[in-house]
Amino acid sequence: MRVLTVAVLISGAGSNLRALLEAASAPDYPARIIAIGADREAAGFEHAEAFGIPTFLVPFREFESREAWGRELGVQLAAWQPDLVVLSGMMRLLPADLVAQWAPRIINTHPAYLPEFPGAHGVRDAIAAGVTQTGASVIVVDHGVDSGPILAQERVPVLPGDDESALHERIKPVERRLLIDVVRRIADGEIDLAVAAAEASK
Ligand code: GRF
Repeated sequence: MRVLTVAVLISGAGSNLRALLEAASAPDYPARIIAIGADREAAGFEHAEAFGIPTFLVPFREFESREAWGRELGVQLAAWQPDLVVLSGMMRLLPADLVAQWAPRIINTHPAYLPEFPGAHGVRDAIAAGVTQTGASVIVVDHGVDSGPILAQERVPVLPGDDESALHERIKPVERRLLIDVVRRIADGEIDLAVAAAEASK
């Protein structure tokens, strides 16, 4: 069984990345992380060091445009030629050219039950909406905001008194489990990303 090579892009703490690194260190897991990139000096790079995974940094603020940043990010990703790109806490929208370059071999985790609460504040928006349940989703990245085909999702309860942090910490373990399972299913051929993307575009 050929191992699926994965590049992960983060912006923050990388706790979801950490979970994927731990899963991928199991000898029978059919995917391995070959590079970890970020748009800023992400705390999550500590997990890359802990697991000896090469990193690359493409600082968003050093580029004169999102497109210029996306081009450099594309160059860095192309250098590694991963089979799959995973956005896990990458808090930047990718430029259309970059999505076009990698779609549909690019997936994202989102802390809401899409299409509910897309965008950068899905957890905060769920609390503001006063819902009693939200969720976690893993999707194929397309040209919209968290609008791509849903590969996996699961409901997570919102409890009375939840603030954004408490709810997000309840969602993340579900996100991690879904992400680890989706990457495994892509590696095993159970999920065909081209089929998923084609079905969504009908
Ligand atoms: C995750 O919930 C991810 O879906 C969202 O931001 C969070 C990142 O958490 N975009 P971490 O950096 O993996 O801890």
